[in-house]
Amino acid sequence: MGVVTGAMVFGPDGTGAPLPGHRALEPVPGGDLVELAYDYGPNLVPAPGEVGSMWRYHALLPLDPAPVAYPLPVGGTPLVAPVGLREQLGAPNLYLKDESRGPTGSNKDRATALVLEHGLRRGARTATCASTGNVAVSLAVGAAAAGLGAVIFVPAAVEESKLRLMLLAGATVVKVARGYGVAFELSRRTARELGWLDRNTGVNPLTLEAKKTVAFEIWEQLGRRSPDVVLAPVGDGPTLVALAKGFRELRACGVTDRLPRLIGVQAAGCQPLRVAFEQGGPPEVVEPRTIADGIAVSRPVAGARAVAEVRASGGAFVAVEDAEMLEAIGLLARRAGVIAEPAGAAALAGFRRALGAGLVGSEETAVVLVTGSGLKTPRFLAPSGTAVEIEGSPAEVDRLLAPRR
Ligand SMILES: Cc1ncc(COP(=O)(O)O)c(C=O)c1O
Repeated sequence: MGVVTGAMVFGPDGTGAPLPGHRALEPVPGGDLVELAYDYGPNLVPAPGEVGSMWRYHALLPLDPAPVAYPLPVGGTPLVAPVGLREQLGAPNLYLKDESRGPTGSNKDRATALVLEHGLRRGARTATCASTGNVAVSLAVGAAAAGLGAVIFVPAAVEESKLRLMLLAGATVVKVARGYGVAFELSRRTARELGWLDRNTGVNPLTLEAKKTVAFEIWEQLGRRSPDVVLAPVGDGPTLVALAKGFRELRACGVTDRLPRLIGVQAAGCQPLRVAFEQGGPPEVVEPRTIADGIAVSRPVAGARAVAEVRASGGAFVAVEDAEMLEAIGLLARRAGVIAEPAGAAALAGFRRALGAGLVGSEETAVVLVTGSGLKTPRFLAPSGTAVEIEGSPAEVDRLLAPRR
């Protein structure tokens, strides 16, 4: 593995005794996250080949070179060139990075995999997280696959279909009436007190390390080229922060000389980071009002860092209404064959806004992250027509299809 030069300490909860080869903790300038660094060089980047799995980038992950024990396939998601969508939006160089293809249908599967892989190597028995939904499903299913216990804290208003998946996978689930922020503190405290693996987003640095592999894959799938701009939904912030880190690491390795602009997409009903970006000052705590649970975060854990990354990249924040996300879900399904949930479709809604506002040029190479599958949120999948019921005779079919003959 690449030697860790920048200071990292992590025990089960992201702090504590250093692993061999890791040095003491240093804060990242201007950031609120602890961050790993490596001895960068082209030797850490895999030779051209198939982008099949996240573990392909093991030299840029904090892993000893032992075989990976985590059993679920993770990473290697497709970069889709959506012909119909491109035509409809007048954006010939638009791509979708379809993160809905992970084992539980969201980009959270990457972080879960790396945290649990570390846990398995250290003999951990139980993992915990707080989550608005997708992290929880991914931890419940990942822990089940890895033979670990999972104790999950969710806001009481959790999406029912996601809750069922957590329970189906055998996780212990605690609903917290006072919401995600309180659930987060409870999960962290429990991890500390009981020595459990802490898979909480934005605090365990492994989550950032895993999510940065999305940037590596985009670069490889574009023919070892960085795009002009990447759009990502932003809740707590680590998805976007990790993208920035990934592209920066590619540049540090000497395999690309440019960094894409990053556009963070928030829900109009929960946009503390867009407001902080435009007005300056720290993000204000807001009361989320949106159907997009993944980005309904009142006090983003990595918010300041996400704002700083967007600013440094020359990008911007945009906010989209729930109706725009629902429209984007329909567009993705009908024009690209990708089934997304509201937060998962937010970046496409943001892309349309950014095009309209001149934040993205129509000819630019733009990558939109689709971060979560709609198969987990069926109530937001609005059909574009109705099914016709027939008795079952060929004559009925002939009559029905006559206009098409
Ligand atoms: C589908 C989906 N998209 C986007 C996000 C936001 O990611 P982050 O919290 O890293 O900003 C989440 C977080 O749960 C999510 O579930």
